[in-house]
Amino acid sequence: MKIGVFDSGKGGTTVLEAIKRVLPNEEYKYIGDSKNCPYGEKSDEELMRIVCGIVDELCDFGAEIIVIACNTATAKCIDKLRELYPKIEFVGTEPAIKLAVATGAEKILVMATPGTIESERLHELVRDNKMNNQKIELLACAGLADAIEKDENVDEVLNRLLKGKKNYDVVVLGCTHYSLIRDRIQKYFPEALLIDGNDGVASRVQQIVQKH
Ligand code: DGL
Repeated sequence: MKIGVFDSGKGGTTVLEAIKRVLPNEEYKYIGDSKNCPYGEKSDEELMRIVCGIVDELCDFGAEIIVIACNTATAKCIDKLRELYPKIEFVGTEPAIKLAVATGAEKILVMATPGTIESERLHELVRDNKMNNQKIELLACAGLADAIEKDENVDEVLNRLLKGKKNYDVVVLGCTHYSLIRDRIQKYFPEALLIDGNDGVASRVQQIVQKH
């Protein structure tokens, strides 16, 4: 099948790799929209306009499945995209809160863009999954996706955001760009389990392909 994958830049390549591991023989087109990065600091209207342009391009390629390899665009656009493009199977990427909760961890940190952190969908995920003994802290990481995309000042931004933060059992990488610097984030939380939603996205895409 033809599968389109997009993100605001290179973050989504981590999702694409996970999908290709389980589905090596499909035909892929990846769009890394670095000229509009960061998505996490755009208004809902502007982001929707940008994302529709990309979806149109992936439709021209003939994509039957479109993977939104971006937590921010998923949180803000997926419902509207499903209405606007009813023939396309959209698969979104969401912060792996269910997975984090399922580990039984007591203290969980969710790192994501300001756009994802403020989204209704994220608050729903926390509300629907958190158990009473669990504490889930949300951290809006302004500037981090952009620094990773441009490969500029990443350590400075990490220090500003993470210095002094400790005692988490699980850290959720709620932006696909963060998976690219997993080792650098792990240094701040040597004891914590770091998780992302990439394998979950890959298995959802696999289910759809198998159904076809
Ligand atoms: N990689 C994206 C995400 O998963 C978007 C980062 C951004 O452009 O702000 O949220």
